Amino acid sequence: MPTVHDLDTPSILIDAARAEANIARAQAHADRNGLKLRPHIKTHKLPYWAKKQVAAGAVGITCQKIGEAEVMADAGLSDIFLPYNILGRAKLERLKALHGRVTLSVTSDSMETLEGLAATFTDSGHPLQVLVECDTGMGRCGVQTADGAVALARLIDKADGLAFGGLMTYPAAGRAAEAEAWLAKAKQVLAASGLACERISSGGTPDMWRSSDASVVTEYRPGTYIYLDRYQVAKGVGTLSDCALTVLSTVVSHPTATRAILDAGSKALSSDTLGLKDFGELLGAPDARVTGLSEEHGTVTLSGDAKLRIGERVRVVPDHCCVVTNLFNEVNLIDGEQVLETLPVAARGLMA
Ligand SMILES: Cc1ncc(COP(=O)(O)O)c(C=O)c1O
Repeated sequence: MPTVHDLDTPSILIDAARAEANIARAQAHADRNGLKLRPHIKTHKLPYWAKKQVAAGAVGITCQKIGEAEVMADAGLSDIFLPYNILGRAKLERLKALHGRVTLSVTSDSMETLEGLAATFTDSGHPLQVLVECDTGMGRCGVQTADGAVALARLIDKADGLAFGGLMTYPAAGRAAEAEAWLAKAKQVLAASGLACERISSGGTPDMWRSSDASVVTEYRPGTYIYLDRYQVAKGVGTLSDCALTVLSTVVSHPTATRAILDAGSKALSSDTLGLKDFGELLGAPDARVTGLSEEHGTVTLSGDAKLRIGERVRVVPDHCCVVTNLFNEVNLIDGEQVLETLPVAARGLMA
């Protein structure tokens, strides 16, 4: 069996046991709290992990892109949620084809999106489930008020080929209570308008551990929880030793005592810091931080006792693992130093 020493750099390593433990921990939390788990596959983009998540108890998966959903459907995943406004003829046609082969649901936050959906889906015998997206504090997509949610829910309810599927939100990290109050009110206003709302879908790894059975939320869509990264560690979700994804890299230069250069730059680690200081840190070397990136060079600043030498191979924990996934053609599943399997990242680069 090959080992990590046989791999060229930069390359992605996934500690398989850690990823499995992260899946099990989240599923156990969801089960304890009566929540349905619907993991977001944008973090791994791999049917391999999507199947493991479903086998562990997830009710289905979440994809952000139709291309991701097509890959997952091809691999046999049968219940897919696309929490996205789908617009334009090309995408609507692909969505219709997908609806013919999996249990599908989508979101909308506007009349414009609903018009396209209603014109495409006309079969009352097999309606498309549409959830109304709500802006509960994130400031991204979503209707702004409970009344706005009711207005769209009514339109969905009236359209022959659509069915009102409930409410969806992507809450701002750290503001779960605000999201909860927003959704509880919307649920009440919907009920007063005679619209049952059985599914309320929320998501986001940082606040998952605060969700409970007292919540109006029925379904949770964590994504990053499977790999974790420096951002999630900063949010208290786990420790560096729970992070399953690292980027294996080689020290290619050491121009000064405190500066070493890696062969992983922004095209391997991404420059998405999610607001953190530094672009990554080295496993087992807390005083070595990736403080600068150009496309193919990562600048490591060494402090304290940290020492590196030219030719040494290191493992970088990135700030945001989901974008790193989308930068490599393949990932290597590892157990210690053994490479268990090398998998193509089947849904990488599928932006439409
Ligand atoms: C709509 C939606 N749901 C769920 C998630 C998962 O969030 P996280 O990666 O924090 O678990 C995201 C993340 O971007 C998202 O955009």
